[in-house]
Amino acid sequence: MARTVDDSNGTIRPEQIIAALRGTDLHFAPASLVCIENTHNMSGGRVMEPSEIQALAETVHQRGLKLHMDGARVFNAAAALGVPVTELIGPVDSVMFCLSKGLSAPVGSIIAGSKEFIERARKFRKLLGGGMRQVGVLAAAGIVALEEMVDRLAEDHQRAQRLAEGLSQVCGIKVADTNYRTNILLVDVEGTGLSAPEFSSRLKALGLWINPKSGTSLRIVVHRHIEDSDVDRVIEAFREIAAS
Ligand SMILES: Cc1ncc(COP(=O)(O)O)c(C=O)c1O
Repeated sequence: MARTVDDSNGTIRPEQIIAALRGTDLHFAPASLVCIENTHNMSGGRVMEPSEIQALAETVHQRGLKLHMDGARVFNAAAALGVPVTELIGPVDSVMFCLSKGLSAPVGSIIAGSKEFIERARKFRKLLGGGMRQVGVLAAAGIVALEEMVDRLAEDHQRAQRLAEGLSQVCGIKVADTNYRTNILLVDVEGTGLSAPEFSSRLKALGLWINPKSGTSLRIVVHRHIEDSDVDRVIEAFREIAAS
C-alpha cells in the first residue's frame, strides 16, 4: 500500500514522514520504504538538495526504513547544483534513473542499489516478464548517454531559463518558480483568458506540440533537440496567441 504525502512544492520534509508513519497497529500495513523524486517533475523540475536528502535519510534510517530515489532526472539535479551525482544519491538505499529523457538514449532506465537489492530486483523483473535478450545495442546507446550527454544538460537548463524569462514577459503568462531551473517549465496560461487545452490547440496550429498539465497550465521540457532558435519560436508563438 502506498501512502502519499503532499509534495506539491517538489520536496518532502522529515516532519511529513514522521506524521505519516502509523506505528505497529495490527490494522496497518507496516511501513518499509520512503520514496522521493529528484528532480521533481510535477512541480516544474524542483531540485532536492543534498542537505534535504541527508536530513530525510537520517529520519528514515533511524526508523528502520529504506529510502529510494526516483531519479529519472537526477543528472539534471546534479547539473543544476554543479555537484557530482554521487552527492545526491549517497544517502539513499536505491535509485533509478532514466537513460532516455535529457540523457537522450532512445530507451532505458537503470536501477542501482546494494548487490542483494539488485539480485532481488532481477528476480522480480523476471517474475514480471521484464527480461530482454540481445539488448547490447540498447545498452550501447545507454553508455553514450552516460559518457557524452551528462555534461551537456546545463545547456538545456540555460535554454529553459531563457524560455522562462521570455515567456514571463508575455501578458497573461506565468512561469512557475523553482529553486533551480532545470529542463522543465510549468506555464500558467490562465491570465490569457484561454484554458490550457485551448492554448495547447492554438500552439498545435502553429506547429508546436505542448501538452496541458492541468486546466490552466502547460508543461514544457527542453532537451537536446531544442535549440536557441526553437526557444525564440516558442516565445513568439505564446506572444501571438496571448495577443489574439
Ligand atoms: C519521475 C519519473 N519517474 C519514473 C519514470 C519512468 O521510468 P521508466 O519508464 O524507466 O520506468 C518517469 C517517466 O517515464 C518519470 O518521469
